[in-house]
Amino acid sequence: MTVLSLGKDLLGLEYLTKEQIELILDTAEPFKEVSERTIKKVPTLRGKTIVNLFFEASTRTRISFEFAEKRLSADTVNVAALGSSVQKGESLVDTARNLEAMRIDMVVMRHPSSGAAKFLAERIRSNVVNGGDGMHEHPTQGLLDMLTIRDRLGKVGGLKVCICGDILHSRVARSNVWGLLKVGADVAVCGPQSLMPGGIEELGVIVFRRIEEAIEWADVLNVLRLQLERMEAGYIPSIGEYYRVFGVTLERLERAPRELLILHPGPMNRGVEIDSRVADGPHSVILHQVTNGVAIRMAVLYLLAGGKPELAEAAKGMQEAET
Ligand code: CP
Repeated sequence: MTVLSLGKDLLGLEYLTKEQIELILDTAEPFKEVSERTIKKVPTLRGKTIVNLFFEASTRTRISFEFAEKRLSADTVNVAALGSSVQKGESLVDTARNLEAMRIDMVVMRHPSSGAAKFLAERIRSNVVNGGDGMHEHPTQGLLDMLTIRDRLGKVGGLKVCICGDILHSRVARSNVWGLLKVGADVAVCGPQSLMPGGIEELGVIVFRRIEEAIEWADVLNVLRLQLERMEAGYIPSIGEYYRVFGVTLERLERAPRELLILHPGPMNRGVEIDSRVADGPHSVILHQVTNGVAIRMAVLYLLAGGKPELAEAAKGMQEAET
């Protein structure tokens, strides 16, 4: 019998099978409860050293990886470009090799360049987890989005999920498309032509040009941040125009033929891609996504460290005080 594992690194959902994605989602389940305890800690990764290497801004991903690591009892170090020797021109590989010389076990990295995580993974022995690389992938975001949909709707396969907004520049969109298609969801994208990658239909997704059509079709909307820096590059005429044409507003949702689940990876631009009444309304699971982010990251770190899925339940049962 082949034992299912993730291999050495988590670089993107494009490279995982349906079974590996389901393994991560299932392994996250017992870890959810750890965060609800008074003492939020299990000894599962005691003795492991994890470096969080963030070359780009992050609130949710960086903090939730750090919580996941601490709740699994790993030793963690945070390295940001600002204040490290990267500022003096040290290369990514030299930085990582110096960290490895201090006997680390894993690196979680966010980097502005697409492919940076793979580049690093091929050059160091430690496990590498992609925390977002340029416009390529953000696999743990895709996984926590799927876990949240499964929590609320009982399944992911067979549901209609539409990803809305700036698809062209979004690593979240790419991880969602790969992951959702693999687990059997119907996937659509909706956004301005100028923010839509050419040939995206070839991945097997439906393309909607009007948000009203997407709302009529979908069970779930995953609303992406409009990357405001793109405005200067002329991708959209104005924020007001974008909200008028593509904004996910309460009025539009009230015309939907069924209740929609609303996701957003954050950070949100209220009144740009999403109406505050929607973001804070009963259909929104945006903060549930953030909560699930910790459990997903605990599951990924646990599995990459060689943890067995059936032992995650047992690990959950272990109190820090008992060991
Ligand atoms: N969703 C997400 O990646 O958010 P951060 O950029 O704050 O990590």
